[in-house]
Amino acid sequence: MEFVAYWKLKKNGFGGPPPRFPLGNISDMKKNMNRSNIDSLGGSSSNIITHDIHSRAFPYFARWQKSHGKVFIYWLGTEPFLYIAEPEFLKKMSSQVMGKGWGKPAVFKFDRDPMFGNGLVMTEGDEWVRHRHVIAPAFNPINLKVMASLMVESTTKMLDNWTRSINSGNSEIDVEKEITATAGEIIARTSFGISYQYGKMVLEKLRALQMTLFKSNRFVGVPFNKLLCPKQNLEAKRLGKEIDQLFFSIIADRKKSIKGDDKPPQDLLGLLLKESQVEGGGLGKRLTNRELVDECKTFFFGGHETTALAITWTLLLLAMHMDWQTQLREEIREVIGEKDIDATLLSGLKKMGWVLNEVLRLYPSAPNVQRQARGDIQVENDLTIPDRTNVWIDVVAMHHDPNLWGEDVNEFKPQRFKDDANGGCKHKMGYVPFGFGGRMCVGRNLTFMEYKIVLTLILSRFSFTLSPNYSHSPSILLSLRPTHGLPLIFHQL
Ligand code: HEM
Repeated sequence: MEFVAYWKLKKNGFGGPPPRFPLGNISDMKKNMNRSNIDSLGGSSSNIITHDIHSRAFPYFARWQKSHGKVFIYWLGTEPFLYIAEPEFLKKMSSQVMGKGWGKPAVFKFDRDPMFGNGLVMTEGDEWVRHRHVIAPAFNPINLKVMASLMVESTTKMLDNWTRSINSGNSEIDVEKEITATAGEIIARTSFGISYQYGKMVLEKLRALQMTLFKSNRFVGVPFNKLLCPKQNLEAKRLGKEIDQLFFSIIADRKKSIKGDDKPPQDLLGLLLKESQVEGGGLGKRLTNRELVDECKTFFFGGHETTALAITWTLLLLAMHMDWQTQLREEIREVIGEKDIDATLLSGLKKMGWVLNEVLRLYPSAPNVQRQARGDIQVENDLTIPDRTNVWIDVVAMHHDPNLWGEDVNEFKPQRFKDDANGGCKHKMGYVPFGFGGRMCVGRNLTFMEYKIVLTLILSRFSFTLSPNYSHSPSILLSLRPTHGLPLIFHQL
């Protein structure tokens, strides 16, 4: 089927790097990647940290763009992908398709099954509608409000440890590691009400699974690739099953406790079970235990790392821009002051919102969006994207395109977002940190709340600068992360 899509795309005049059977363009991609992994993009000691990261994160796309433009075809094995870094093309294409009409590349669904199963990220068609109807209400701001105090508690515990570390003479802290662990704890508690220890077990297995799936030399898209790396594939399957077992028992325990209790916990799992028990509106809302497990995995995965990375990159940028640390601290003093943090107050932190938007522009935690056409998509009169075409949208490229943002595209300027939710981008589809259309990220309100709470607490207690040990080298491991962590030097206020 993919070959049919490919020939139709070729007929429509799309170019791209010539593929070789059976790897497609994979060897070229790996060669480029290995070279870029050697170089750092500066460090605090060299004083030349650049935010111009596209050619570092996706060296092969940056190179192919030069010869094939912003829309072209490349191949993962025998799977053709339509690469898009052109917002106008994206607009024309997406205006033709509703959320329900999109698929996800079959090759990723299959490969990432141990991680996401058939959770919301991967479902399609009527199944996606059914899942989204159950899940979306759990993320509305009213439901999320009750989670604020748990977030404050987990973050305060982390910051107390930082204070102890500073008092004992060690003021350098790798914040990436710390924030990721705390975000994991937050999602464990706010989503499933599970203990730190239980949450840690799930997180460790998920991290091992992520390493197996994304760090090893696998050949996704190449025929019979499972036979090429049997060890990693068996390992991924084993870890996937173990995580499933943990979630099956969490769900069974919760269902038992609901029967004996008329006030179940208001965490995401509680809300999901409540929504899922409503057989309303002909939507057939009920989710099976298997479906609930897949959604839990999806929350855990989608929910903690992306948010943790947004906070981590923010701390890098604030360490480089002390003036913004000061501005945010003043805003916190005005909006929150001595009051307890609660969700309603957070919406007053406007400048912090601009900073989040600017960080997600320069360092989008989700560096690409992937879709698959279900049915032919008519982009223009004489331009059709055929059924089953895999689509890869390069978010990093669009967020760093000087034609869309101007000459200061690689500068940290949160004020871009002061009067424009789109940051002054010349095209409204050029800024898509949470995706677009009906399939846009369902968890973004949770991120906004967690981001503001964690940052408020950090800025109220500490100021921080970059450690001389920091080496700037953003890389992709599903999400966009600092390869060597983020060591910062902290001072208590
Ligand atoms: C900085 C934080 C986050 C970023 C940058 C982010 C980004 C994204 C992106 C780019 C997509 C794909 C959208 C598309 O295809 O158009 C997505 C989907 C999704 N995200 Fe997030 N996300 C974040 C936080 C979260 C959180 C906290 C959760 C849940 C706890 C979550 C759960 C999901 C789910 C379930 C989907 C699939 C939605 C669907 O297909 O209907 N995300 N996210």
